[in-house]
Amino acid sequence: CEDRKISVGLLTVSDRCYQQLTENISGRCLRELIDRGCHLKAEVLVEECVPDELETITTVLTNWCDCMKLNLIFTLGGTGFSPRDITPEATRAVIEREAPGLSLAMIKMSLEITPLAMLSRPVCGIRKQSLIVNLPGSPKAVKECFQMIAPSLQHAVDLIT
Ligand code: MTE
Repeated sequence: CEDRKISVGLLTVSDRCYQQLTENISGRCLRELIDRGCHLKAEVLVEECVPDELETITTVLTNWCDCMKLNLIFTLGGTGFSPRDITPEATRAVIEREAPGLSLAMIKMSLEITPLAMLSRPVCGIRKQSLIVNLPGSPKAVKECFQMIAPSLQHAVDLIT
């Protein structure tokens, strides 16, 4: 395993956050969890909030993978069933290889907490040397899903870099 900290990007996908109608609490929560470093030794290098627009999301993801070469990218929100929830589609458009085990692990664990977990459609996968993980949008869901998969992420990043 490498000593170097994993480089991370946090992309909040939310029309309401983007329009500043609501605070980006989920983004702040995840940032705090990562900064605390208990589950994963990582460093957040970039944070952004974008509206639920496919092309905007794919542009940021592509840039963070290809130019910034981040090890790990978390998207927050836009995984549900409402017409504007298109984060999974945007993710699928940029990844080269899907990592369904991560999505499965999050959903399996989440279903033990709430049946509403079946309404999340997370896509996870690899583009070049970056791993992209879709998290649901609520602070509670972000925390639960992050804590579930975090212990496996160092090894995941070691394998793709
Ligand atoms: N997963 C966990 N672990 N905990 C939760 O509270 N909420 C669900 C689900 N997944 C939840 C969860 C709900 S209510 C929805 S609508 C979906 O995630 C999609 O959320 P999103 O559209 O914000 O991505």
